[in-house]
Parts: sequence; C-alpha cells; structure tokens
Amino acid sequence: MSQMQIQQLMRPHLITPETYATAVSPDEMAAKAGVSPEMIIRVNQNENPFGADPDIAASLNDIPLHLYPDAGQVKIRTSLSQYTGHPTEQIMAGAGADEMIDLLMRLFVAPGERVLDCKPTFGMYHFCARVADAEVVSIQRDDTFDVDVEAVAREDDERTKIVFLASPNNPTGNILTEEQTRDLLKLGMVIVVDETYFEFSGQTVAHLIPEFENLVVLRSFSKWAGIAGLRVGYMIASTEIISRLMDIKNPYNVNIAAEAALLATMEHRAKLLGKVTILLEQRKRMEKAFDAMDRVSYVPSYGNYLLTRFDDHLAIDLYEALVKKGIFVRPFSDPRLTHDLRISVGTPDQTTRVLEAISELI
Ligand SMILES: Cc1ncc(COP(=O)(O)O)c(C=O)c1O
Repeated sequence: MSQMQIQQLMRPHLITPETYATAVSPDEMAAKAGVSPEMIIRVNQNENPFGADPDIAASLNDIPLHLYPDAGQVKIRTSLSQYTGHPTEQIMAGAGADEMIDLLMRLFVAPGERVLDCKPTFGMYHFCARVADAEVVSIQRDDTFDVDVEAVAREDDERTKIVFLASPNNPTGNILTEEQTRDLLKLGMVIVVDETYFEFSGQTVAHLIPEFENLVVLRSFSKWAGIAGLRVGYMIASTEIISRLMDIKNPYNVNIAAEAALLATMEHRAKLLGKVTILLEQRKRMEKAFDAMDRVSYVPSYGNYLLTRFDDHLAIDLYEALVKKGIFVRPFSDPRLTHDLRISVGTPDQTTRVLEAISELI
C-alpha cells in the first residue's frame, strides 16, 4: 500500500502534520549548547528545579509492577479529597493535566464543534481540540494579558462547548479573578480553569463547583511536586462530569508508579510546599533584578515563571545567546511575544547564573 492509499483511510483532519512543539531533550540541549548535560540549566518548562524528592523516589521501590493499577483510583481519590477538601466523587486523576484536557474533548466536543481559548496561552488546548476535529477560536487577551470576558461572551453559541483558561496563565502568569470566572460560568459553556500552578498562586475557584455544574478545575503534580516525568494530574468538577469521565477514561490511566508517587507526595507535602516557598523567593529575586535593568519588564506572575520583556532585543536572539551559555529559556512564535522570554524559576544557584548571563547579554 502506498502512502497516498494509507492516508485515504485516515481521518482527513489529521493528515496535515502539526506536532506539538515540546522542548528539546537534555541530550539535544547539551549538544546544542556544546556543554556537558550537568552544566545545562533548564528553565524552559516550568519544571521543579530541585528534582524529585528522595521520599517520593523511595516510594517507587517495591511497587508491584506486575499488577494493573486500581482503575477506580480509590486511594488516589481519597487522598486528593483530603488534600483539596472536595468529595471523592468530584475528583479524578490522570496522566497529567494534559490527559484531563483530552478527556474533556472526548466528553463534550463533537467534530466541527467549537472550543475557545484566550491567547497567548498553553498550547495543549489547541492541540487536543485539533485532534478532536473541533474548531478552535483563540480570543486575544487584552494589553495586560487579562481575559476579555466580553469577547468570550460574544463567541458563545450552540456549537461552542468549552472555554479553556489557565490561571495562572501560561506563559503570562496572571490569574483569572473569581468575578471573571462567575461571569464566564453564567454564559453556560463548560469553563475549564486550569490551575496547574495552584500551589504557587494559592488562588483557586474550585469552591464555586457546588454552585456551577459547568465549572471544571484542573491541577497537576508536575510543577510543585516535581514529578512531571511520572505524569500525574487531576480534576475537580461536579459529580455528574466526573462520573461520566470515569466511565470513558482508559481504565489504567494512572500507572502504578504514578499512583505511589502521588500518595507519597501527599504524605510529604509539607516538605514539598517548603520548596515552593523557596521558589517564590527566587521569583522575587528575579523580579528585583529585572526591575533594576533598563528597558526590561515582566508580567506580574502568580506562577513559577516570569514572562520577561526585553525592549531592545529580539527574544530569539537572546534565546540563542543564552543557549550558548548552557541556559534554556522559552521563546514564543506568537507575534505579540517577539521580545518576550518565559523564564522558569530555578534553584538559588541557577537564578544567580541566569541573572548574570542576562545582564552580560543586554
Ligand atoms: C497551564 C498548564 N496546564 C497544563 C500543563 C500540563 O501539565 P501536566 O504536566 O500535568 O500534564 C502545563 C504544563 O506546562 C501548563 O502550563
């Protein structure tokens, strides 16, 4: 069978390549920078720079790898219920917040229906919507990257099912207020508030769930808990939404190592939240350093990253120059962000190196 023939069997909307742009691997980074992998500073994916906690790593010893995990997620949901204060039947876990986004498409969005997001924002909403053969409408955020609630309301119609809003937003770091959330919820579409950076922001709208059946809150263990590689995220939503999603998820979507790490994270959470405090202090340090630099500014951030604007430099040039020093930050193709780099907060030592490198370059 030729390539043409096999493509005729595929779903037409998936034939044009449009791969999700993930960051380069550590080995590629080292090769690109021309330094050894240990010298690389990865401040491009908002990961936890302290690495996995030893107690969480230890929880992975002696897990029964030959057994399937619990499809009903009983221990996980009980533990998350204790952590969040929401009932178990309003919580479910998955392979990162990413899987939750994909599952929401399965439940709510038929081919040709519409999904909204507010640009610039996290790319997975668009990615999963495209795979679901939905139409994605991206509404521009305003000058301060705030959500334009009226513009979202203007797009509300019968074909429009979900609005995805990250809070704190990635890459801008600002949050959606409770008032904005309430106004959006009243429109009647499913409003997904992605609180992947909740432990950094301390801000949530999850308490509105009993009042609004169309509110979905996403959270993640990738950033604060330092287990991005294990893929652990969860959702809080009405019992109706969660029970339907539990029905249609892959039965074993949280693998047994991820389950062990999630439970260990909950047990050792005080220690991990202490690391969050250190990272927030480092973000303050970065802010102060940027305040002192000429023609450099940043969006006030509630996350573990700063979208930083360099008026006199193209972001891509600075990115390349930082790569040569072994430092990886995140540039964007969005035309509004040609002078902006998202810089994740690193360890105190990494912050020192990042700030020194930037001051040398500008
Ligand atoms: C806003 C937002 N949502 C979701 C994710 C993905 O989280 P996870 O690793 O839990 O899939 C990210 C990761 O960068 C993110 O920034």
